[in-house]
Amino acid sequence: MAKFSALILIAVIRLAVALPSYESLVGLNEREINEYIARHGVAEIPNPPLPLADGSIKLVNNPSHPFIPAGPTDIRGPCPALNTLASHGYLPRSGVARPDQIVTAVMEGLNLGNDFAKFLAYQAFLMNGNPLTNLMSIGMKTPGTGPDPPKPALVGGLSQHGTFEGDTSMTRVDAFFGDQAVFNEDLFQKFIATSAKFGFNGTYDINAAAELRNDRLQDSIKTNPQLVFTSPRIISAYSEAVFPTIFFVDGRLNNRQLTIDAARHFFDFQMMPADFHRQPAPVNFTMVDPLTKAIFNKHPFSPGVNHGKNNFVLQPQTPPLADFCGIYEDIVLRVIPGQYPRPHGVLRKALNKNLGFLFGAVHAEHNCTQVFPFGRD
Ligand code: HEM
Ligand SMILES: *[C@@H]1O[C@H](CO)[C@@H](O)[C@H](O)[C@H]1NC(C)=O
Ligand SMILES: *[C@@H]1O[C@H](CO)[C@@H](O)[C@H](O)[C@H]1NC(C)=O
Ligand SMILES: *[C@@H]1O[C@H](CO)[C@@H](O)[C@H](O)[C@H]1NC(C)=O
Repeated sequence: MAKFSALILIAVIRLAVALPSYESLVGLNEREINEYIARHGVAEIPNPPLPLADGSIKLVNNPSHPFIPAGPTDIRGPCPALNTLASHGYLPRSGVARPDQIVTAVMEGLNLGNDFAKFLAYQAFLMNGNPLTNLMSIGMKTPGTGPDPPKPALVGGLSQHGTFEGDTSMTRVDAFFGDQAVFNEDLFQKFIATSAKFGFNGTYDINAAAELRNDRLQDSIKTNPQLVFTSPRIISAYSEAVFPTIFFVDGRLNNRQLTIDAARHFFDFQMMPADFHRQPAPVNFTMVDPLTKAIFNKHPFSPGVNHGKNNFVLQPQTPPLADFCGIYEDIVLRVIPGQYPRPHGVLRKALNKNLGFLFGAVHAEHNCTQVFPFGRD
């Protein structure tokens, strides 16, 4: 299997060399896809990884996973966790990875539960990855993910605005104001100040998370004329506010109070603190959902978009944060077909396979009904 992946990688690299790089970004037409597949085959799609055999606490900043800063061609993006995992070699240090590698990395490196890991990774992959090569960039768009399927598919990587990446991030500016993927020191100062004011002993805890999340939304409502705060962004915005209080805290202490020093390591340095231990047990939806609900309840909101600064127009047709299955359906029936209106052949097959993996992740703890945008196989 490793040999086969290596072959595919070589094929992709060869193709990237053979074609001028702009050409590989244009998007293939159906004939070209067929030719590409005839020549190189389609990437093998491994099944999603199973839960860890040993999900106990573990030293994860260890000698086999040393921190090495990203090199000039290594890609990093908007997610502090994936950036850090790449810089410790839990993910390919290049920043281009398969979705199953991302699932394994977040389970192994941070002890994300298998279901949550699959929900994030396959959702992101379907919006930002390349279904033909089974590769995704954790940051900007890159020829390293191989030739694109036809437009309007984006294959934009995790930095692609308006897919998974969205407005009101805690440490990144809204795309309207600049680079939405890069760490922003001014916003991190706000993170520190909010933790000093609301968190226990100056830490980023659940109270600080609730205030910062609301502040970032109120700030964007006032200043960003193009703010979009609807499904699916609302669910990542709220879970990502909670995540650092869990996963960035050393599992030996596990008190849900993130020190500013540890936050600085992950968000800014993309580095685990020295001697860092992961969570003592896999953390799944059952544990995250009540925390997300708690910060929502402190400052409830309804999804909406700005029509100009300070003109937040509610969008009653988009599912609210509490409607998890509604958001799942919105992703599968609106967002993904927006990029793949009429997929055929191997492309459709690959999309359906990944859609099945995504449903497998939402099925266990949320009683959603599977939906099929491209028909059943
Ligand atoms: C499993 C696959 C994951 C994927 C595909 C993923 C993807 C992303 C993306 C696309 C963003 C940008 C959203 C935005 O702010 O616009 C993001 C942000 C974030 N992610 Fe991840 N993520 C994953 C796992 C994790 C894990 C395990 C953590 C654990 C702490 C985490 C923590 C965060 C945080 C804290 C942010 C917010 C950064 C900010 O608002 O400044 N992510 N992630
Ligand atoms: C508060 O934080 C300081 C360092 O910032 C630490 O030395 C002290 O032990 C903390 N106190 C409590 C009660 O957690
Ligand atoms: C979620 O995690 C909790 C606590 O570790 C565990 O008891 C429960 O069985 C897990 N649920 C699933 C569906 O994995
Ligand atoms: C799950 O959904 C099905 C169909 O909507 C329903 O009949 C069933 O009672 C639900 N189960 C739980 C545990 O909520």
